[in-house]
Amino acid sequence: MKKQQRVLTGITTSGIPHLGNLVGAILPAIKASNQENNSSFLFLADYHSLIKNTDSDLTHSSSYEIAACWLACGLDPKKVIFYRQSDIPHIFELAWILGCLTSKGLLNRAHAYKAAISDNQEKGAKDIDKGITMGLFNYPILMAADILMFNADIVPVGQDQKQHIEMARDIAVKFNHHYGELFTPPEAQIGETTGILPGLDGRKMSKSYNNTIPIFSDESVLKKTIMKIKTNSLEPGEPKDSSDCNIFSIYNAIASEKQVREFQTQYDEGIGWGDAKLFLFESLEEFLAPFKSEYAKIIEDRAYIESVLVDGSKKALEISTPIIEDVRKAVGIKGF
Ligand code: TRP
Repeated sequence: MKKQQRVLTGITTSGIPHLGNLVGAILPAIKASNQENNSSFLFLADYHSLIKNTDSDLTHSSSYEIAACWLACGLDPKKVIFYRQSDIPHIFELAWILGCLTSKGLLNRAHAYKAAISDNQEKGAKDIDKGITMGLFNYPILMAADILMFNADIVPVGQDQKQHIEMARDIAVKFNHHYGELFTPPEAQIGETTGILPGLDGRKMSKSYNNTIPIFSDESVLKKTIMKIKTNSLEPGEPKDSSDCNIFSIYNAIASEKQVREFQTQYDEGIGWGDAKLFLFESLEEFLAPFKSEYAKIIEDRAYIESVLVDGSKKALEISTPIIEDVRKAVGIKGF
């Protein structure tokens, strides 16, 4: 029997996921969690959300909605350890310990911090650190603690997070060097489909470009959104190129190979853009219907969501407790 590998990933609790997240991250993560050799950890990175906003209601409601969304999309809490980061105090204790080992220079090179600095420089701010919090600066350490706390082997993330996993590796190696081999240096797994799905305007589907297709909107909103997809100005009856078409790429992400071939024939035969969009809209409605009806049920059931997360945190604590005890001893924090 192959050794179980620990696969861990965090979800930043800001904003409800869109179609890009669903097909690029949520469904692949749920599929991976069903593989026998994986033991999956999935958590709501709710303390990470404080980096981005100070709106407590937003922090609270986003965590809730995102938990409901993952459950509605098929996450099985019996197969995955699903928990809130904030329920595992050991993570924050570990973050302090790791912070004491991490050189400031490493964090100076973090993309998010560098972007904030260059933003200030462009604006001509006198202080290049203007408005930058220690939360943003320390973000990679908290993320390293999230990962190392459970000795994860594999961390599936988007390309933008790759640097953070490399930092977590560096930090693990440094800890092991000073205190003994306690941590597994994790490896990033960069999703193949992540980032490929185009949005309404053809750029990557992303909240920051405001070009997303929401998952749980009602029919009329979804229809309006799909009608906004950018196309070229070819007339109905003229054959169309599917290789450079946003409508086609989005359909491709939700349809079977056979369905995609049939849509291709329609392109060759010169389907009009209006009809192509209508077809995509109807197909999306059908694809999203089961997720939507589950979401509508789950979102009403606060007690269920809470109990799933409380159970998840119990399982997570069973794993983190012996690890943090070893860590404390290793660094010399122990009874006399
Ligand atoms: N920072 C990640 C993101 O924005 C979320 C995250 C927090 C995470 N902690 C993590 C991802 C640990 C993987 C592992 O997407």
